[in-house]
Amino acid sequence: MQRGVEIGRFITFEGGEGSGKSTQAGILANRLSRAGRAVLATREPGGSPAAEEIREVLLSGQVAPLGPLAEAVLFSVARADHVDNAIKDALQEGAWVVCDRFMDSTRAYQGATAGVPRGIINALERLTVGALAPDITFILDIPAEEGLARAQARAEGAEPDRFEGQELMLHERVRRAFLDIADEEPARCVVVDASQPEAMVAEDVWETVLQRLNP
Ligand code: TYD
Repeated sequence: MQRGVEIGRFITFEGGEGSGKSTQAGILANRLSRAGRAVLATREPGGSPAAEEIREVLLSGQVAPLGPLAEAVLFSVARADHVDNAIKDALQEGAWVVCDRFMDSTRAYQGATAGVPRGIINALERLTVGALAPDITFILDIPAEEGLARAQARAEGAEPDRFEGQELMLHERVRRAFLDIADEEPARCVVVDASQPEAMVAEDVWETVLQRLNP
């Protein structure tokens, strides 16, 4: 993240379904709070009132028939609002922002997996994220089958949303896409083995935060 007046830190969690992102984002947010930091724990799609409304539309599957470009644009509209009306202010006030999914999800799902050209994804990123790239992005990596099994166990009895209805092959492609992002941007991205027990994943995350950002 480019430093101006803002003094906060921006950490994102990415990964496929069942990778434990949300749990790990929550654990990190708690640890940072206990360390005396102001924390904004947030998520995408969503994170601001308008973006939460767009989330409902996206996860209902109503946008899917319009194709991946429409989805990429709508995820980006939500992101722009989230950045402008939640993340920026928190960073300017010195908070540590911990976000469950961010721009890499658009790269991985709508870009690499659904085929929206990289140039368009990049242009959307420039519009929505600008200079506000995360300080650290944790990519929680888990074999597709394992992640899917976890996600299904979690959703048992619940109606799966459109994304959770997708198949194993898609999960493998998404996993590959996240690993490719980590390869491209090693200074920002840290791959964590998410098939480890939850407490060990949390330790890996905390060690990295201690080393890189000195909370
Ligand atoms: P969510 O219910 O938050 O699931 P998860 O626990 O997997 O995070 O649903 C978010 C879904 O939206 C998830 O399947 C990934 C997808 N998504 C995109 O396709 N593009 C994006 O830019 C974002 C932020 C999410």
